[in-house]
Amino acid sequence: MATTTATPALSGREIVDLAKKHTLFEWSAQAKIDPIPVARAKGIYFWTPEGQRFIDFNSQLMSVNIGHGDERVIQAIHEQAQKLCYANPFMATEPRARLGAKLAEITPGDIDSFFFTNGGAEANENAIKIARFFTGRHKIIARYRSYHGATAGAISLTGDPRRWASEPGIPGVVRVLDPYHGIERGWESAESSLAQIEEIIQLEGPQTIAAFILETVVGTNGILIPPDGYMQGIRRLCDKYGILMIADEVMAGFGRTGEWFAIDHWKVVPDLISMAKGLTSSYLPLGAVGMRHHIAQYFQNNVFYGGLTYNSHPMGCAAALATIRVYEDDHLIDNARKMGAIMRHLGRELQKKHPSVGEVRSIGLFGILELIGNRKTKEPMAPFNGSSPQMVALGKFFRENGLYTIVRWNSFYTNPPLSINEEQLREGFAIIDKGLEITDAGVKD
Ligand SMILES: Cc1ncc(COP(=O)(O)O)c(C=O)c1O
Repeated sequence: MATTTATPALSGREIVDLAKKHTLFEWSAQAKIDPIPVARAKGIYFWTPEGQRFIDFNSQLMSVNIGHGDERVIQAIHEQAQKLCYANPFMATEPRARLGAKLAEITPGDIDSFFFTNGGAEANENAIKIARFFTGRHKIIARYRSYHGATAGAISLTGDPRRWASEPGIPGVVRVLDPYHGIERGWESAESSLAQIEEIIQLEGPQTIAAFILETVVGTNGILIPPDGYMQGIRRLCDKYGILMIADEVMAGFGRTGEWFAIDHWKVVPDLISMAKGLTSSYLPLGAVGMRHHIAQYFQNNVFYGGLTYNSHPMGCAAALATIRVYEDDHLIDNARKMGAIMRHLGRELQKKHPSVGEVRSIGLFGILELIGNRKTKEPMAPFNGSSPQMVALGKFFRENGLYTIVRWNSFYTNPPLSINEEQLREGFAIIDKGLEITDAGVKD
């Protein structure tokens, strides 16, 4: 029998130093970052090698929806690895076949065919490619307050400042404003937002527009829950002008909002739907783009020009099937709805108590708190695309007190795994409650 020599484990400090010396960290100037060393994780918690415990209040990147370390998914990955670790994407495998059929069951309307990718950006790349092939048009409408991924096309679709460094990007992207205009200006009605979009469609020439891509609930740009009528209105505009509607459900999908997909709240059927993250709860990389029946039919006799070595990876597909079973067996979408109601209540309590809390938004277990430095003007606690000493101090407090979440600009997120219970939710909110004393001290009026 083969033996292995145990390598002595590295300390947290050694892991960070070595990783920083030989690897490049995402979206950062390397000298400015101090990553958390992670050794293990279970349920809603993860630990450093030295045993510091964190509540994962962001499900890492809003993706470990079923919670960490679920033995059923680990077992399914193990079993698939023993049978077949890899088959090239021209092969048909059982996990690929079963996953396609399962997704056809849970996705909206007559979406019944899927192209499997390695993640969310690549799902969006293929969504716009499919839309362009199918319509013969080239322009894509996207919104400013959006993130669609970091590959060449997806970053061009992205409206937020992460796009700037990659410009000019791919041609043909037309950007429109969202119904939300930041904490100071607030929300516009669905009607006026839709009217502005229709005007842009007419000015661009509807016959040149292949698709409108939108996050159904905007994620990293502020958990923006569209006003009623907005999603239905986008669907109507797309139908009126022969434009395909692409729902980016990469972050909002798989129970995060209390429905399988966020778009289900508005009973709208998009033409294409992109997904990743919660699809495998990030146990293995996998994304997908789903399409309605008539779009899939188009590719019966027209070549689908696309494919990568790892598309439809059997390990990823097996992990996704096991993950979907966990959502079902543990009623996690129901739990997201129930815990979501409690989270909304806890958020409102914080808003009443803390002058720095300007707005609290959530749908299911997809939540955010926006902080302000002035009660009258609602000036944000940090500027657009910037930070402030108070927000930095709040982030430091969370880290020292064992709460992990993303602090971005004037906001921070409350996106725990859908398996969380009330006691754990309250444990997280108790740390937030204490931390907000720091930002309260920064409120001027
Ligand atoms: C809405 C949305 N779309 C696409 C992506 C890109 O997904 P990935 O990082 O898996 O490529 C993300 C990632 O955060 C996302 O939030």
